[in-house]
Amino acid sequence: MAVMTAPPSSKAAIVDVPFAHKELVARLSPGGRYIDAQSDVDSPWVPFGDNAAIKHLAFDVRQNLFSNILWVKGPGVIGTHLHRGTITMVCLEGSVRYLEYDWVASPGGLILEVPGESHTLVTEHPQGTKLFGWMQGPIDFFDEHGVLVDTADVWWYINHYETYCRDNGIAINPKLYL
Ligand SMILES: [Fe+2]
Repeated sequence: MAVMTAPPSSKAAIVDVPFAHKELVARLSPGGRYIDAQSDVDSPWVPFGDNAAIKHLAFDVRQNLFSNILWVKGPGVIGTHLHRGTITMVCLEGSVRYLEYDWVASPGGLILEVPGESHTLVTEHPQGTKLFGWMQGPIDFFDEHGVLVDTADVWWYINHYETYCRDNGIAINPKLYL
């Protein structure tokens, strides 16, 4: 096999790929999918306190993974929390920083967080921030005295989404469940 310098891309055509386990994939894979995040068609904005909302995009109960967009609608804070899983986030709009670190995230920037880190999210941007996240739970949230308030894992996020849908007559979207 020759060394590839770039993927073959001379023709826009579907190629029948000789993969040995196609039938297993067809039978067992949850399948790839597209979730629209620009509208509320696939998933509504669910209030997350007075100044924020979450648009849930995916839940994977096998790996305690959840994906969403966190929208802090103006200058505000998401209180100190401790991660017990790995977090991957991209700043989509506005700007955001953590009191514990010396950087400020701006649109297009990647935020990585690792288990064992605790931090306090602040946006001082007049429009707040939107953050896309691919996140692994659990996340422990603490009050100002360091007392554990609640632990948010994939089940917490599913309940957050489903409760809002139930209360507002919105159909649960099966596409969000991997
Ligand atoms: Fe965090």
